[in-house]
Amino acid sequence: MDKNIAIAIDGPAAAGKSTVAKRVAKALGFTYIDTGAMYRAVTNAVIKRGLNPQDEGQSEMVMQGLSIDLLPDGRVICNGEDVTQVIREPLVSGNVSYIASYKNIRLALVEMQRKMAESKSVVMDGRDIGTYVLPNAQVKIYQIASVETRAVRRYEENLSKGIPTSYKDVEDDVRKRDYIDSHRDFAPLKPAMDSVLLDTSYMSIDEAVDAVLKVVKDKTGAERIC
Ligand code: CDP
Repeated sequence: MDKNIAIAIDGPAAAGKSTVAKRVAKALGFTYIDTGAMYRAVTNAVIKRGLNPQDEGQSEMVMQGLSIDLLPDGRVICNGEDVTQVIREPLVSGNVSYIASYKNIRLALVEMQRKMAESKSVVMDGRDIGTYVLPNAQVKIYQIASVETRAVRRYEENLSKGIPTSYKDVEDDVRKRDYIDSHRDFAPLKPAMDSVLLDTSYMSIDEAVDAVLKVVKDKTGAERIC
């Protein structure tokens, strides 16, 4: 029997998935996989080549031969270049949902994601992990928070990373991405039927992490190792 455990954390933009997923992975000794960083890396590659992210054909060409590495320390390397910072900038955030709506780009990234999750225990966060990428994940969490809470969190996160943005722009971006992500044809954002809903609007990070760990323990028996 396969003893590896997969934990899928999906949900709308800036719901705090990656913060929670990273901590849950650390607590359990699992590998964290940030699938959003992969869509962001492709978006950055399209923009860098002077192509139009709203043009599906142009964007798909960029996928040929593109390598994306998610390092254990959180750095994102695309074709040998460290893109960790630039993929969080507003220009990438504002265009990533177009790129993520293109079927061939999704299929290529999903294949990479499934390979990354092979033969190890993982916490993977994104939009379609429980519904499409890892449908057999033993634990599926759908993490939400109000739009206002999410926009404030992302605005503060941007400030702390030195990414210049206004609160209004962040809120508009969150709403726009939610709309595109949940209305695309292929693997749209939606809760998996067997997911556990986690509303973190009024939860601290520690509370959200504890809530996920409790679900993990109930469903798989796996417990904190640190
Ligand atoms: O962290 P945040 O919630 O801002 O987003 P992210 O996880 O970095 O994902 C950025 C964008 O990538 C999303 O708005 C989606 O358009 C896309 N994405 C997706 O379509 N499927 C995934 N599994 C992960 C991200």
